[in-house]
Amino acid sequence: MRTYRVAVVGATGAVGNEMISILEERNFPVGELRLLASERSIGKELEFKGKAYPVQVLKEDSFEGMEIGLFSAGGSISQKFAPFAAQAGCVVIDNTAAFRYEPDIPLVVPEVNAGKIADYKNRRIIANPNCSTIQMVVALKPIHDAARIKRIVVSTYQSVSGTGKKAMDELIDQTRALLSFKEPVAKVYPYQIAFNCLPQIDIFLENGYTKEEMKMVWETKKIFGDESIAVTATTVRVPVLRAHSESVNIETEKKISAAQVKELLSKAPGVVVVDDPAKREYPLAINAAGKDATYVGRIREDESIANGINLWVVSDNLRKGAALNAIQIAEIYARDYLK
Ligand code: A2P
Repeated sequence: MRTYRVAVVGATGAVGNEMISILEERNFPVGELRLLASERSIGKELEFKGKAYPVQVLKEDSFEGMEIGLFSAGGSISQKFAPFAAQAGCVVIDNTAAFRYEPDIPLVVPEVNAGKIADYKNRRIIANPNCSTIQMVVALKPIHDAARIKRIVVSTYQSVSGTGKKAMDELIDQTRALLSFKEPVAKVYPYQIAFNCLPQIDIFLENGYTKEEMKMVWETKKIFGDESIAVTATTVRVPVLRAHSESVNIETEKKISAAQVKELLSKAPGVVVVDDPAKREYPLAINAAGKDATYVGRIREDESIANGINLWVVSDNLRKGAALNAIQIAEIYARDYLK
């Protein structure tokens, strides 16, 4: 059986860890595995299929002989090292925002636009979208195909794991401090995140939106290949460890009922409908954590307009929002182009 030589950049991080376990769980045919991180990780080992692998320091020549590079060590690291990987013949699947908006770089969610993986040929880089965008487009694609979405209004409730391991520790430490009547210390976020909501994710841009909000606007248009979709977002960090939740309101060109949406989504790839108000069943972050699916519930018609639908969309940001989506791309790339 053909196996592949895989490098994981940022292997010690929250997403990197998840990538290693998903490669194992899905039995990705890994021939050689190179785990890369910063000098801080010298001497560390990580386990893959019961074997310990030393973490190596990321260098310009780290990609010699590698075929697939899964990058998740931050935008500036991707900006600097992805070109070296590509030069060495390794195709980069990049989880950062470094290349997402470049027209010749494909931005891929396999359930929506797997065909775009072919464009890896342009620069040997494929971009993995932002976590909040991924789960939203997985849920909206079947509705867009059936009724054409004209406008999306989304508000997110994003978990701290999207910021990385240090942010998860900060939420736990602050919670522990507050419950012991001690002062919480904020280092990762500008304000206390425990028992709070922060309406800022990433930096503020000139138009008053945050970059996270504009990522949802730009990426949705690019992934759907439809510049005419109007998107407006408010992204909020909440004291949840794992899985992002989203309130999504859409306006469609054609009328579609809540029942039709439920029916479409119950057959959609990657989606699980959890929607039974009588039994108080709806998607919850704590149930989505560690799972692969995008969960959709609270499906109802927006009674304030003619063709509107409201949805509640929940998915694990480290899995479908990051590592799983990247590995799904790797699986298709390997199957179709690396025979
Ligand atoms: P390290 O653990 O050696 O710092 P998270 O998003 O959970 O904070 O993880 C970030 C990941 O990116 C970690 O694996 C981290 O490695 C890696 N990383 C950060 N800076 C660098 C760097 N300069 N070179 C290589 N890897 C880096």
